[in-house]
Amino acid sequence: MRRKLAAGNWKMNGTSENLKELKALRDAHPDPKVEMLICPPATLITSAVVTAADHPLQIGGQDNHRAEAGAHTGDIAATMLKDAGASYVLSGHSERRTDHAEVDEQIRRKTKTAHAAGLKVIVCIGETLEEREAANTLDIIAGQLAGSLPDVLTAENTVIAYEPVWAIGTGKVPTTDQIGEVHDFIRSKLVKRYGDGVGKSMRILYGGSVKASNADEIFAVSNVDGALVGGASLKASDFSPIITALENA
Ligand code: 13P
Repeated sequence: MRRKLAAGNWKMNGTSENLKELKALRDAHPDPKVEMLICPPATLITSAVVTAADHPLQIGGQDNHRAEAGAHTGDIAATMLKDAGASYVLSGHSERRTDHAEVDEQIRRKTKTAHAAGLKVIVCIGETLEEREAANTLDIIAGQLAGSLPDVLTAENTVIAYEPVWAIGTGKVPTTDQIGEVHDFIRSKLVKRYGDGVGKSMRILYGGSVKASNADEIFAVSNVDGALVGGASLKASDFSPIITALENA
């Protein structure tokens, strides 16, 4: 059985004032039946870890440098995230691919560095609208999976997030058939590359305009093991019903 994961990505949002949302989230779910994760901005990781203490709520980073340490002004090493109390990190989010021109090769190296630091990595993949309209979605997904994932990984230290770029922050959501097609395809690729044991145990999240109002139908799709949520993870009152929907899925 794959343990379901409700993950929130705060992106470049939040100051210490927003820690009250984390407190409200933990209070609303004293004994969650799914794994809960929030990836706040790096400046909040240490205080978020304190806020989440003695609760299963986990805290993650949003990016790490591919190098272990060194002359990379403004960047964050995976070991620093780990030291700050993070247990997860995102890798290859489409906003990093766009804003920082990150490509699969770098994402694979970042992922390996994060694994070496003892972090679990959520590797993000997804097609643009142009790619979908050109019927290239599965080719793009196959290429990103092949290029972004290291050869050596485990189902414990790696999670895939399928986030169609055109669904992120737009309110547009693929149909459940479209989500199912891509998630089933990812599952088959994982099994082919890593074998049944790892391939069938690795979690695959959906991300892109997940809200309380659409969570039930998304979580009912085959091979959807949870969600990576942006906007609706910023407020406990929005994220909490998504967690509950996942618990009930
Ligand atoms: P939204 O939920 O705001 O569409 O963002 C999704 C996302 O990019 C999570 O990483």
